[in-house]
Amino acid sequence: MCGVRKIEEINTQKELPAAEPDRQFYFMEKCRKWAKGFEAENGRVPTACVVNMGCQMNARDSEKLVGILEESGYRIKESEDADFVIFNTCTVRENANNKVYGRLGVLHGYKKKNPDMVIALCGCMMQEPAVVDKITRSYPFVNLIFGTHNIYKFAELLYTAVSKRGTVVDIWESSDNIVEDLPSERKYPFKSGVNIMFGCNNFCSYCIVPYVRGRERSREAKDILNEIETLAADGVKEIMLLGQNVNSYGKNLKNPVTFAQLLKQAEQIEGIERIRFMTSHPKDLSDELIEVMKQSKKICKHLHLPLQSGSSRILKLMNRNYTKEQYLGLVEKLRAAIPDIAVTTDIIVGFPGETEEDFEETMEVVCKVKFDSAFTFLYSKRTGTPAAKMEDHASKEEVKQRFDRLLKKVQTIAAEKAMAYEGAIQKVLVEHRNEQDGRLFTGRMSNNAIVHLPGTADLIGQIIDVRLTECKGFYYLGEVC
Ligand code: 5AD
Ligand code: SF4
Repeated sequence: MCGVRKIEEINTQKELPAAEPDRQFYFMEKCRKWAKGFEAENGRVPTACVVNMGCQMNARDSEKLVGILEESGYRIKESEDADFVIFNTCTVRENANNKVYGRLGVLHGYKKKNPDMVIALCGCMMQEPAVVDKITRSYPFVNLIFGTHNIYKFAELLYTAVSKRGTVVDIWESSDNIVEDLPSERKYPFKSGVNIMFGCNNFCSYCIVPYVRGRERSREAKDILNEIETLAADGVKEIMLLGQNVNSYGKNLKNPVTFAQLLKQAEQIEGIERIRFMTSHPKDLSDELIEVMKQSKKICKHLHLPLQSGSSRILKLMNRNYTKEQYLGLVEKLRAAIPDIAVTTDIIVGFPGETEEDFEETMEVVCKVKFDSAFTFLYSKRTGTPAAKMEDHASKEEVKQRFDRLLKKVQTIAAEKAMAYEGAIQKVLVEHRNEQDGRLFTGRMSNNAIVHLPGTADLIGQIIDVRLTECKGFYYLGEVC
């Protein structure tokens, strides 16, 4: 728990505080009293389950939800048959939305057995008015709906939801507020995400994120660095700086700070041994950043640099603001500076108007760059984005064929690249016991590759030397040196 304020210090007999986060601590105390009443009545503490359905930013938000629920008197459990269940949703592709509707059906089953169960939905998908409309009409058993801009108000919303009947809906169109110092419960004691900015100003033509996450807002560097110092004091060794486009960090601060400058300051913090960040937009990747990465002892040898398409024509339609040649030039520059850096990417197949020639260009870039791994996505039409109005040319079958060809190529290249490390000794942060084989532990190398190794539970959270005995394509088997 890294909440800075003790809940006992807040007296709910006093007036409701106007300032944040005091107001939220006031409501956490009110929830705690409610939870005590629940316990007296039911002979057990109320339980809560937080389901994260999205990206790393979403996962970090979920840690905050867990922190607030714990401060509010709930016991967290993994399964969804809890007294309070919240889905932190994603909407970047249509199938993310479909998953939510499917799982709501399962929750309804639990609610029939436990009619006092409170069901909540938050996150990106809730910023779409059509979604909220559908849920309130067709899923009336949902008790609480809120979006991305007022997540800091969760304690207040939770209290309203548990103390009144019906559905509470609170969606904001935007927010300039960045509320610091709310509680948060980390999934891992030794690593943590750190938000450095929220929102996105890029408006890639296929992407719904700028509409659901709002305009770019950077946190003050001193707040970020304070948070990292607190995390380091609490045993965190690895941090992941999070933002939709970290390379444009700090541009809109009163005293502008570049992302490279922020990284340099984070590097000074004792106790932090590894620094990662995500996501980088190629158009904003500066020479200054490459230089800082090159000089750094702590920044991991990994850059996730979404390509999206290898065709300059499609990149223009996507509003990505770089060409195929510029992307290739950037990777060349990066590898010249940091030869052993792993470069990973995101690629969309089947963007409206993508021809066979455009797709071949994507394949060509993939072969030239030789990504260490790539996430490949079928284009998903998102209502409200400019691409949704663009004409579609290729058939579903054609697009699926392209997708399969790309996936095969990406996997072959990734496996070839991974082979290069077989036999090498690498530093690995051991993260958890392997779910399939309890004798093994799983960790990550600096370049983000996964290693499974036999060991003991005391290795978890340690950075150790591991010999990579066998490369299995996507991962390695290793042994402690
Ligand atoms: N369809 C398919 N993929 C998408 N992404 C974002 N929007 C869409 C969409 N409409 C992918 C991009 C992005 C990643 C997080 O999700 O590749 O980098
Ligand atoms: Fe979406 Fe583009 Fe912003 Fe990434 S940079 S979140 S793809 S609009």
